[in-house]
Amino acid sequence: MTWWLALDTSDDEIALNWVQQLAGLVDGFKIGLELVSAAGTSIVGKVVEAGLPVFLDVKLADIPNTVQLAAANYARLGANFLSVHASAGRAMLTAAVEGAGDACGVLAVTVLTSLTRIQLDEVGFAGGPAVTVTRLANLASAAGCRGVVCAAQEAAIVRRVDPNLLRVTPGIRWEEDANDQARVSTPEAAIGGGSQVLVVGRPITGTTDHVEKARQLNQRLVQIGNVATPIGEDVTPQPPAISPEQRAAALAKAGEARRVRAEVKELLKIGSITFAELLARADTDATIGGLKVATVLASMPGTGKVKAKRLMETHTIAGNRRLRGLGERQRGALLEEFS
Ligand code: C5P
Repeated sequence: MTWWLALDTSDDEIALNWVQQLAGLVDGFKIGLELVSAAGTSIVGKVVEAGLPVFLDVKLADIPNTVQLAAANYARLGANFLSVHASAGRAMLTAAVEGAGDACGVLAVTVLTSLTRIQLDEVGFAGGPAVTVTRLANLASAAGCRGVVCAAQEAAIVRRVDPNLLRVTPGIRWEEDANDQARVSTPEAAIGGGSQVLVVGRPITGTTDHVEKARQLNQRLVQIGNVATPIGEDVTPQPPAISPEQRAAALAKAGEARRVRAEVKELLKIGSITFAELLARADTDATIGGLKVATVLASMPGTGKVKAKRLMETHTIAGNRRLRGLGERQRGALLEEFS
């Protein structure tokens, strides 16, 4: 289990004091809108110097192009994670992942932990948090996001959607009141629910004995069988241990996926399926959706590797992009190309 401290203050000196005092007790730091709007983006580099993962929680939501360029700028500051609102849509999520690049993982905020079911309904997300989180986690997964921010109550849903999405959970409370958070949980409930990273702010920073509170949280985590990640260690979730039967089943599944992909490439080459048909199948079939765009393009009749590379460059498609991760603009351009 990993936990990150939310450096929520408008005073950069206070924030850097917390970093100095708590660096040996936490697994990472979160810089949110309050701090970055007061101290400016130069604060990021100063926190990065502590050598722990840094999550820049600026919750971007804008048109894809703007977010892509902003994400690239933020990533250059050295943050390891950057947040965007999943509700801003597939194209924006894809653009954010593209802009942030490999060194900075995009975390898609699903439903804010401060929102109640009624408030969620008010803004047009009918069906409650579970329905909304399912939809948004699917989008985050398809766009190649590194993880999602979700309440503990929805962590299990996210795991079902895509176990590779890192599940980051704020709204952690123990003895203090809930402040403005609506869907809160204790560290134990969050871990039990499937959260992998706890984000803790006021229960520690809002007290006068924050070092002691951080120690207590670590003891609590140890007691429930979760040793905190050592300083500087990557927070990448480890794959669960699997039995020989599960391994054999996984290998068989991978073999089947390879066979399907090879067949699809062959069908494309001989013109038995069109690019538009393939894209439609990619939306519903994870094996097809996982095909690399570069490979697909090179398999189109009359398009070799060289033309495929040129098309990728023209439409700013990253070399490792999969079909299901294509943005709306890129899909449109390729459909036109092969219509
Ligand atoms: O003080 P507290 O522990 O409530 O801090 C929670 C932090 O997590 C805040 O910085 C808040 O901006 C952030 N956050 C959240 N809900 C989300 C995403 C981020 O509370 N869905």
